[in-house]
Amino acid sequence: MNIDNRPIGVFDSGLGGLTSLKRIKALLPNENIIYFGDTARTPYGSKSIDTINQFSQQITEFLLMRDVKIIAIACNTVSAASLDTLKRNYPHIPFLGIIEPIVASLPGFIEENSTIAVIGTEVTIKSKTYEKAIRLRLPKVKVVSQACPLFVTLIEEGLHDAPVMDAHIRYYLDDFIAEYQPDYLILGCTHYPLIKHKIKSIYPGIILLDPAFSQAEKIEDLLVSLNLRADPEQKATYKFYASDLSTTFRQMIDTIMLDEQYSLKFTELRI
Ligand code: DGL
Repeated sequence: MNIDNRPIGVFDSGLGGLTSLKRIKALLPNENIIYFGDTARTPYGSKSIDTINQFSQQITEFLLMRDVKIIAIACNTVSAASLDTLKRNYPHIPFLGIIEPIVASLPGFIEENSTIAVIGTEVTIKSKTYEKAIRLRLPKVKVVSQACPLFVTLIEEGLHDAPVMDAHIRYYLDDFIAEYQPDYLILGCTHYPLIKHKIKSIYPGIILLDPAFSQAEKIEDLLVSLNLRADPEQKATYKFYASDLSTTFRQMIDTIMLDEQYSLKFTELRI
């Protein structure tokens, strides 16, 4: 068996991808990880595809300079907008988006005539990436979607537990949920697991799905199939980089890392 201790690169527009990192870390505790959060330029979800392509390529270059073995995109917006371009432009590095793994897992447990709702950023929802991928696998399932543009900004501001968050959830989702009565709700933005408890308490009948779990499993499969697993005995190292060291970003890392060691650095990405 080959051993490859190079790190896994993980990135997001900001702190949302830390919810994915938490799952990767839990499933693969011996894998070194480098995380990049583009906190200075978040949110990506209302920007043009060209801009998202440009930002995600800069981050890819940054991670490649740190010798990552694969890149996990912990961002639905980048997965929807730029995954194909990244794969085309950097054919030597394996990329894993966050949308495909959860969609691939759905046929295992979704009933044929159910309704799946997807919420995400404007770019993710407009791209219809979830809808198209789900329909390919589950043609009888009804897929409905709703963009929630302000969620990311509030969460990056550290307001995910504040009452103003409930007001925004109700603003975007009350009518949508009442109209479509979905059985499942996919949290199609890696920031949203941070408000899962609020969505759950406002709409208790709906089953929430967090794509981070399937992405972590898919990363493990990919590492095994490419023979890139790290030493099973080693204790992993975690390096975090951000284009702006916001208080919320620091706090979120502390919440995920608890007492574990990590390094955190500011880095500027030039256009
Ligand atoms: N966490 C990103 C996602 O999963 C967020 C987007 C943003 O920056 O708007 O879509």
